[in-house]
Amino acid sequence: MEAYNEKVIDHYSNPRNVGEIENASGVGEVGNPVCGDIMRIYLKIENEIIKDVKFKTFGCGAAIATSSISTEMIKGKTVEEALNLNNKDVVNKLGGLPPVKLHCSVLAEEAIKEAIADYYRKEGKLSEEEIIHKCNLKCSSDCCNCNDIQEENYT
Ligand code: FES
Repeated sequence: MEAYNEKVIDHYSNPRNVGEIENASGVGEVGNPVCGDIMRIYLKIENEIIKDVKFKTFGCGAAIATSSISTEMIKGKTVEEALNLNNKDVVNKLGGLPPVKLHCSVLAEEAIKEAIADYYRKEGKLSEEEIIHKCNLKCSSDCCNCNDIQEENYT
């Protein structure tokens, strides 16, 4: 198997923003359907800006490295900017991952989107359907093809 590059090893051995935030504005937790690993992310949002972000990941080195670098990528950004982060940007920022580890990078993107959805739910301004579409979450209905689009992210 291809080895991890130095940047991945750096983020894996010295992950940034590990921990929890008390009274977080939004918390998101996702499990990776491929391996069963879990990531939880905490956001502190003020005036639509992500003031602080912390994470806990129970997963492999690639999952920890992508979680770590994604928190750096969204800190100080607007909620809208954070919603635009995708796993390919994260992998590029890390300088690449071995192909068999690409699925691990999806955890961070999805956990951030879940945490923002949690924030919107607490705010109470948007309907559940609006939140699902805005945050690009998997929906349980057949209203659109968003589930199919998301499945492509795992390949
Ligand atoms: Fe589970 Fe990487 S093997 S997240």
